[in-house]
Amino acid sequence: SPNLKTDFIGRNYLYFDTISSTNDYAKEIASDSPDGTTIVAEEQTSGRGRMGRLWVSYKKQGIWMSIILKPDIAPNDAVKLTQVAAVSLVDAIKETANLTSYIKWPNDIIVNGKKVCGILTEMNGELDKINFIVVGIGVNVNVDSFPVDLQDKATSLSIEASKKIDRKLLTASILNNFEKYYRTFLDEGFLNIRNLCKEYSLTLEKDVKAIMNNKEYVGRAIDIDNDGNLIVMFKNGEKKAITSGEVSIRGL
Ligand code: ATP
Ligand code: BTN
Repeated sequence: SPNLKTDFIGRNYLYFDTISSTNDYAKEIASDSPDGTTIVAEEQTSGRGRMGRLWVSYKKQGIWMSIILKPDIAPNDAVKLTQVAAVSLVDAIKETANLTSYIKWPNDIIVNGKKVCGILTEMNGELDKINFIVVGIGVNVNVDSFPVDLQDKATSLSIEASKKIDRKLLTASILNNFEKYYRTFLDEGFLNIRNLCKEYSLTLEKDVKAIMNNKEYVGRAIDIDNDGNLIVMFKNGEKKAITSGEVSIRGL
């Protein structure tokens, strides 16, 4: 595609009509695939969200894709790639659909209060070494309507913009922005990404209930720290860093 302006993200581009899950396939082939390999499918039969949830992926109505990355970073830093993807998506959605979106920390992109996009980052490696990372991105682009149980939570770009959005242009824009911010992260560190995450955040300055390791923490989200954690401050002034791995954020 002439719209793709990247050096390596999406240059090895694997396209499927139907697939179980682009993340599952990416993990299968990652060891033998070059950095930046991107898997795109028109439809997923078992798309996955975080915490083992099902991700609805209607045929030709969204962008269901996974990017394989092989960065030389510490395994603890892998979660920051979710934030790299999130800021890329906010910019790409603005460029392509002219919609303002926000990041619901850590992995949801929200337009007009509803979820248009989710990110699922998975890592393979040991304690001290990454073999590969898969960044899975699901965008509801031209979904006309959602099942009843999702209607209050989910939306699509076409619903919010009241027009069809070009999936090819949006895919290229996501990959272009992703490469730009991924480079920024690798070359200059997390600070720039962190600042953009804070600027685009829907979660900061709000009262939240964070559930981590089966414990609930109710407080105000006051910061995203340099590890990508959400800092929650309790009424007594104490602070807690919430790691994104196993947390569920609910506005109060
Ligand atoms: P959190 O990540 O904060 O715990 P969540 O992402 O589960 O919350 P919501 O965004 O409020 O919470 O709910 C969306 C729910 O709908 C999730 O369980 C998500 O997996 C599911 N879902 C499935 N398919 C889609 C889709 N295509 N678009 C949006 N949501 C979807
Ligand atoms: C979430 O919000 O819980 C994350 C949703 C991630 C969905 C994408 S679609 C492409 C990739 N393949 C999957 O099975 N999941 C991710």
